[in-house]
Amino acid sequence: MPSVAINSTRLNDNLAALGQIGQDEFGMQRVAFSQFDVAGRDYVMELMQAAGMSVRIDAGGNVIGRKEGDSSGNGPTLPAIMLGSHTDTVPSGGQYDGALGVIAAIEVVQALADADHATRHPLEVVVFTNEEGTGFHRWLLGSRAIAGLWEAEDFAAVHDDGATLTSRLPDIGGNISRIAEARRRPDELACYLELHIEQGPTLHRGGYPIGIVTGITGRSVYHVDIVGEANHAGTTPMALRRDAMSSAAQIALAVRRIAGAMEVCRVGTVGSMDVHPNAGNVIPGRVQMGVEFRDERMESLAAAEVELRRTAEEVAHAENVAIAVTAQRNTPAVPISANMQQLAADAAEASGLAHVSLPSGAGHDAQAIAAITPAAMIFVPSVGGISHAPAEYTTPQDCANGAQVLLNALLLADQR
Ligand code: GLV
Ligand code: MN
Ligand code: MN
Repeated sequence: MPSVAINSTRLNDNLAALGQIGQDEFGMQRVAFSQFDVAGRDYVMELMQAAGMSVRIDAGGNVIGRKEGDSSGNGPTLPAIMLGSHTDTVPSGGQYDGALGVIAAIEVVQALADADHATRHPLEVVVFTNEEGTGFHRWLLGSRAIAGLWEAEDFAAVHDDGATLTSRLPDIGGNISRIAEARRRPDELACYLELHIEQGPTLHRGGYPIGIVTGITGRSVYHVDIVGEANHAGTTPMALRRDAMSSAAQIALAVRRIAGAMEVCRVGTVGSMDVHPNAGNVIPGRVQMGVEFRDERMESLAAAEVELRRTAEEVAHAENVAIAVTAQRNTPAVPISANMQQLAADAAEASGLAHVSLPSGAGHDAQAIAAITPAAMIFVPSVGGISHAPAEYTTPQDCANGAQVLLNALLLADQR
């Protein structure tokens, strides 16, 4: 395998520059379709052009940089090796989630250009649209468009602010009526490689510089709507209340118990709650909450749903409220093939870096792209295991290690 080195200073400088776009006192606000998202994508497109890539935006709003392969052979064009991740963030998120994978992928192409190393396969670097799903509650929008995995709910998606996805996709250069054109055929792609921060504590605690992802967690998401009766907080006796908030609290604790003490599934979270009318002296008449469970086994997710629904019925009965549990999205777990895990492990070894295998507890664009081409994921440590928060941090050395392993994985894939 030829030896090509990434430039750590340039990688970390570009990452820091992207990290300035949408940063405020509460963290990164580069939420999909926002002005900061657009500015972040513009910055990345400039880097792609500087690295010698042609840049286009597909109907899903995905930014695609492409560098053709070595044309000295006379055979047919080889399928492309795709690298990528996302530049959108959760509200008040961190600087590394998604951003590292994109900036490192561009660094890989730039380092190859600096070394005058032409790959046999064309290379594509993709910034996927709205990985996080913030606002529209439809995640992996761009990668699922490329994989042909859009569902009816994607076409009908409406933002929390009332705007339709149809009206917002053009803001980033997409077009919902032509979404089918974003889809890629398996024969156009050789494989997909994604570098990402771990977003959990395993690598940092264990002192491993590199993680080889064995599979990506499944996730099921529910909307829970509790309707009680708004009433005066001072005059209504406790026994006569139909309090949506105390019902919601019981469900939130049950979600914690289902994944925690009961160990029905790996993790469970109530991450959002809307309280109506949300006034200190009014018993809440309605609460809407977002619940999610994650596990690598789909049976565990199914069992968690049974428990959630059973709890909702019990609470509705005990509190004299109406509770509707609506399943919003069920994202299946995606295993990474043994071949692709081996490719990533070989790349870590070629880089002289210790590695350990682990499942991904977070979702990633790789899980959608895996439906059309073999995918591998490389993790680097998150200090303290913190992510989706402003304190998210990965050391410059770990970022550089990850980019080098990504480059070596690409070189290995280019030979195979
Ligand atoms: C996506 O980042 C997720 O929530 O796993
Ligand atoms: Mn994320
Ligand atoms: Mn991410």
